[in-house]
Amino acid sequence: MAPSTFHPDIKQILEDLSDPAAYSHPVVSVRTIQTHVSCVFLTGDYAYKVKKPVDFGFLNYSTLELRKHYCGQELLLNRRLCPEIYLEIVPLTLRDGRVCVGGEGVPVEWAVRMRQLQDRAMLSACLVDAYERATEDRSLRDVLPFYQAYRACVRGNIALLAAAETEVPASERQRQREIAEAAYDIAWCYSRRHQRPALLITVGFSGSGKSLLARELCRRLPAVLISSDTVRKELAGVALTARLKAEHYTVSQRGVVYEEIRRRAYRHLQRGEHVLLDATFLSARERNAVSELAQKYGAEFWLLECRCPDPIIRQRLRSRSAHPGASDADLAVYEKQRLCQEPVVPPAFVDQERSRHLIVHTDQPVGAAAHTVVTHFNAITGFPARAAL
Ligand SMILES: Nc1ncnc2c1ncn2[C@@H]1O[C@H](COP(=O)(O)OP(=O)(O)OP(=O)(O)O)[C@@H](O)[C@H]1O
Ligand SMILES: [Mg+2]
Repeated sequence: MAPSTFHPDIKQILEDLSDPAAYSHPVVSVRTIQTHVSCVFLTGDYAYKVKKPVDFGFLNYSTLELRKHYCGQELLLNRRLCPEIYLEIVPLTLRDGRVCVGGEGVPVEWAVRMRQLQDRAMLSACLVDAYERATEDRSLRDVLPFYQAYRACVRGNIALLAAAETEVPASERQRQREIAEAAYDIAWCYSRRHQRPALLITVGFSGSGKSLLARELCRRLPAVLISSDTVRKELAGVALTARLKAEHYTVSQRGVVYEEIRRRAYRHLQRGEHVLLDATFLSARERNAVSELAQKYGAEFWLLECRCPDPIIRQRLRSRSAHPGASDADLAVYEKQRLCQEPVVPPAFVDQERSRHLIVHTDQPVGAAAHTVVTHFNAITGFPARAAL
């Protein structure tokens, strides 16, 4: 058989390149790392990456030409960032019937030669540093989790493909399913890495301006708005502007409404979404119940205490009767609230960093009040600011 038509299979490459004698430089021992698409041989000073002859449709390494091409591409791309790590592509040839690196014979396979680093995390860090040095672009760190999530998804998809192959033994298929599950879990974690959900609540008397502020905030922050007044009317099955009778405002009815808003908040937090709860939250018990929810989901907890001078609240409530909204609260309700207010004490969190108490002066124009909250929120959480819609 002519040497040029002989292609060692991956099993032989793995076997032969595990031998220190296969290299043209001194090697004490060889460690191999395998992924679904490549084998990496760690020799001490240098690492060699050989692509496997796989074809997943979206990624095709099925011929020697394709593998050589993609080795070249990998080198080209990565050398722009880390020329000191990505060195060259080298042929694998046969010597006495065994695969070796370099050599004079006809190439039977190709490898990317790299300087070996202590670990993969170090390689990633090097690439990010080099990119930042080269481009002065600091956004890579922010988008990196997205690519890590994407890569984990690809890994999961590849494992699922392997799990579906009928010629693969059942035990191996099961293992591939487990790999896929783990990969999707990792993807999920990465996708949420920059998105620890936040649970924000308003606190304040009726007429202090909570609902107006909450609506304004949701135009500027990617948060889901849940309002107690809306929920109450939904539960009662009436239109938003319909007035509800006193029986809907008993202590037990209030309990039902608060429980429902916690239930809805929980659904969104679970999906990693930020939630803003618009309700009076005048009792410490209600605040504590909802802060426990935040703690349970590792969410940031924000208390937005809406403060407004008494005469302004009275004036707002008087003019409210002319423009009915979702809230039925009037001056009489406000008077009662004043009698039983409980000062806001931020709930004790195990991790104090995650519980915040912000006093918002809602006698100022709502745009200015919202701006203060958003600026604070973005500065602390590092969430990207979203322009007002
Ligand atoms: N910053 C503001 N500037 C001017 N008007 C405001 C401001 N905030 C609220 N208002 C007005 O005051 C009234 C009461 O505000 P809002 O409905 O937001 O209060 P609330 O705290 O949600 O009350 P409730 O507890 O009854 O739901 C509304 O008519 C609203 O338009
Ligand atoms: Mg309101």
